[in-house]
Amino acid sequence: MDTLSLIKQPIVSEIDRFIELFDGSLQHENGLLQQALHHIRQRGGKRMRPILILLIAKSFGRITDVTQHAAVGLELLHTASLVHDDVVDESAERRGQASVNATFDNKVAVLVGDYILSTALLYVGYTHSDMIVRRLAELGRTLSDGEILQLSNIQRKEITEEVYYEIISRKTAALFASCAAIGAESADASAEDIEAARLFGHDLGVIFQIRDDIFDYYDSEKEIGKPTGNDMAEGKLTLPVIYALNSTGDEAMQALARKVKSREVSSDEIARLVAFTKANGGIEYATKRMYEFRDEAMKFIENRVGDAALRESLTAYVNYVIERRK
Ligand code: IPE
Ligand code: IPE
Ligand code: MG
Ligand code: MG
Repeated sequence: MDTLSLIKQPIVSEIDRFIELFDGSLQHENGLLQQALHHIRQRGGKRMRPILILLIAKSFGRITDVTQHAAVGLELLHTASLVHDDVVDESAERRGQASVNATFDNKVAVLVGDYILSTALLYVGYTHSDMIVRRLAELGRTLSDGEILQLSNIQRKEITEEVYYEIISRKTAALFASCAAIGAESADASAEDIEAARLFGHDLGVIFQIRDDIFDYYDSEKEIGKPTGNDMAEGKLTLPVIYALNSTGDEAMQALARKVKSREVSSDEIARLVAFTKANGGIEYATKRMYEFRDEAMKFIENRVGDAALRESLTAYVNYVIERRK
């Protein structure tokens, strides 16, 4: 069995129900909106976030309609943020097909992203849980905050791991943290379990983004379904190169890194920085950090998840986030 099927094993029927609800949420009768939503529905993502919500809810009780509606709301928020992200990053490919901005244009992508975001609010409203609605609203603010921090960081001179973690905590880990917390909340877990789940989700999200950033140092493989090599072209320096720069103190490479930030770097120079990063252990370092976060995540599974099948599935989930190829 492949890893994703193993992960989904305890929640097979619930995932089907989720997909039905999710696809149902992205419908419209006519016109451009219908076309754009159809385009988005055509290629689902990996569903990592709904899978996490369902697994955590099941670990602490049972999957209810509240869980499902929250999962739809969170996956919609994620989807909207990707539609907008591709506008911000001027990216032409997503999930192995042309992005919404490339298929239609930026205007359509901004408006459709707003439509999907509002649909997310509608679905969390169906949970009738003030706490869940509040968590989603706060999350939406945190995601935007992270993206804006990333944008303004391009102008900042210093290149530190600390700022890197600050950005990925907000733009990615916050979403995984909310999924785990809301999953636990929807199953009426104790306040302590909800908080532990939140931290678990946060660790998963950090691992997830480090892995995603490592992809960018390699040639695009078909499986990934989105372009690589974009980060430096967009002015972004991620963990592998930050480590290589700070551990070697190489002046020439620091100068190139400054050119990345001021968006004056050529593709040749990017290739040199990538080669420098690989030659100086940047990828190994980032990988090591993922395993450190994994150790923390495993403590949650060992201490708080009683059911053997769910423990196995969540463990496979953690490993998948590290080892995934897309
Ligand atoms: C993409 O997330 C955004 C990042 C946090 C890097 P996913 O890789 O989970 O996207 P889909 O939903 O599977 O396309
Ligand atoms: C992902 O950010 C989108 C959000 C977390 C909102 P990136 O721009 O780093 O990720 P990809 O590579 O486009 O998915
Ligand atoms: Mg981005
Ligand atoms: Mg992007």
